Amino acid sequence: MKHLLSIESLSGDEIRTIIDDAVVLKRERGHHSSQPLDGQCWAMIFTKSSTRTRVSFEVGVRELGGSVMFLSANDIQLGRGEPIKDTARVMGRMLHGAIIRTYAQQDVEDFAEFSGIPTINALTDDEHPCQILADLLTIRERIGGWEGKRVAFFGDGACNMGRSWAWAAARLGFELVVAAPEGYQLDDEFVNSLPSDAKVTRTDKAEEAAEGSDVLYTDTWVSMGREDEQAQRRVALQPFQVNEKLMKMANEGAIVQHCLPAYREYEITEGLLESNAEAIFQQAENRLHAQKAVLANLVKR
Ligand code: CP
Ligand code: NVA
Repeated sequence: MKHLLSIESLSGDEIRTIIDDAVVLKRERGHHSSQPLDGQCWAMIFTKSSTRTRVSFEVGVRELGGSVMFLSANDIQLGRGEPIKDTARVMGRMLHGAIIRTYAQQDVEDFAEFSGIPTINALTDDEHPCQILADLLTIRERIGGWEGKRVAFFGDGACNMGRSWAWAAARLGFELVVAAPEGYQLDDEFVNSLPSDAKVTRTDKAEEAAEGSDVLYTDTWVSMGREDEQAQRRVALQPFQVNEKLMKMANEGAIVQHCLPAYREYEITEGLLESNAEAIFQQAENRLHAQKAVLANLVKR
């Protein structure tokens, strides 16, 4: 594995290796037997806001022996129009790796190509692979794994999280159902691009998705960059709120997951979030462990 650009670009085996390694890194936190990033300096180039991703990578790089430099895109020449391929060619000559959060997936792909250094997608409009890896680790810890399980995603199915979940289901063979209204659902072109044996289905009825599910998953209705659509999204997505009623329809032992940040009483009720806070904040903590596994795999020789 040279980069982590998307879940789409990973194989099932690569995903399973990262999760296996994350389990070990989590157990051995504070007394790692090796420091795979020793002597390395990584950059974090962020065009969008972040709490979890920024903190977990800053801590994770340091815990693996490396140092890290946070660069807000607005503070570097990228924000004044310097092309990504020039930025990449400069940074590739000085740094050992880059972690990028931005809008266009193509920018992360171009950075990887032109820099030649390991590049991690820390969220684009298309995918959020680091979040999915942490979620899979949490699902393994909480319900023993994803094999034979049914994950239900509610809300803006067409956003980065919905798309990354679809690729995870395709690569790992579990069932994913996406509950979203028209205009916010995975589109036909995307679904047709998945392998034909992917167990990914779509519905416009939240109850239909909740029934028999093992994981109820949601995300903000207003992804970064969509702020001007907030009012219309809050109306259109309201029937897809994850709440106590849907929870009752899920399988016994089902868990609630939210990638956070959460907007209470919109995509999830305050009550359901708080009664599942342990699993949801475990999921947030797992960003650290899963990403350390990604970093360690990227520098493996
Ligand atoms: N879930 C997630 O990526 O959170 P941040 O936007 O805070 O990094
Ligand atoms: N879909 C959300 C995820 C936030 C972690 C966004 O892109 O803003």
